Amino acid sequence: MLEIKLNKMFLNQNIKNGVLEVLESGNYIKGPNLRHFEESFRDYVGSKYAIGVSSGTAALFLAYQEININRGDEVIVPSHTFIATATPLAYFQAKPVFVDIDPTTYCMDIEEVKRKITPKTKCIVPVHIYGHPVDMDPLIEIAEEKNIKIIEDCCQAHGAEYKEKKVGILGDIGVFSFFPSKNMTVGGDGGMLVTNNENYGEELKLRRDHGRKSKYENNLLGLNFRLNEIQAVIGNEQLLYLDEWIEKRREIVNFYNEIFEKFIKVKIPSEKEWAKCSYYVYTIQIENRRSFIEHFNKEKIATGIYYPIPVHRQPIIKELYGMQPKLEVTEEIVDKIVSLPLSPQLNNEELNRIKVAINEYMEDL
Ligand SMILES: Cc1ncc(COP(=O)(O)O)c(C=O)c1O
Repeated sequence: MLEIKLNKMFLNQNIKNGVLEVLESGNYIKGPNLRHFEESFRDYVGSKYAIGVSSGTAALFLAYQEININRGDEVIVPSHTFIATATPLAYFQAKPVFVDIDPTTYCMDIEEVKRKITPKTKCIVPVHIYGHPVDMDPLIEIAEEKNIKIIEDCCQAHGAEYKEKKVGILGDIGVFSFFPSKNMTVGGDGGMLVTNNENYGEELKLRRDHGRKSKYENNLLGLNFRLNEIQAVIGNEQLLYLDEWIEKRREIVNFYNEIFEKFIKVKIPSEKEWAKCSYYVYTIQIENRRSFIEHFNKEKIATGIYYPIPVHRQPIIKELYGMQPKLEVTEEIVDKIVSLPLSPQLNNEELNRIKVAINEYMEDL
């Protein structure tokens, strides 16, 4: 029996041809494929700028640098996220202020954000976790009122929409990841920054390449965070399928929801009426998670936990910033959440195997 994986990388002949062409051209960086990918991504999101970089983490680092995060600044982030939302802040000697989440969307709790704003708050980072957009309007309102920047972490939310607008352009800068498991990838690590701010856009283009305007003239502080031509070829092709894949993901979500709906002990994902979730993962909450995972392991069906240790409880966070206050909802859900395979490449046979596995487990409870 073959294992059903959480994600599958999409590969077609165009990608194979394109990669070979780049290899044979000897033109590996700063070439036409990157320019094309950036233009296509910019048009897809509807931003003025899109700047390809080497990872989502690099994009976050650059975004924080660009808005001038500095020593002593506070940045409000959810704890229920991948650690890279918060860790780049340490390089600027700034402090992450962790907030709890809304138990239905798993996104940051807006009321708590408001309570945790201080005169030192420089930025708020809404993370559109699992592909579900954060409720942006109240955040934008408070950020405008208090002159606070917003960096959207869209690393799990390519193509997600908030009130019919694509995420990424709702704040000051949006960051995306093309890590292999994401809704679209570049066949390895990669990332993208998007912005409508001309100054940010022009500067970020330089910062990801040693801050240089021309080959030997370095005008801004920057490092090497470039996205290469091979990755850009793959990204270009994958972007063409992104909307189709999101629809397929949504179909699979409905398929799972229908199976789980009859089992009241399982909490299924929900989508706010103003949201179009792009479903990076399908996450349920279940009391006896370990036995559920064991059952799936036996059936050779992969499961994932995004994430078992909340960021505010990570040892490095304690070392850098001391013990953090309790976050009730975050700490409650981390022991119950589990994600099922949600690749648009899943076929009917695989989906049926998963359905049988769920029913067998649930009926034995
Ligand atoms: C919410 C979130 N932020 C940041 C990142 C970092 O992206 P990358 O792995 O491309 O560095 C990821 C991806 O893993 C993520 O899911």
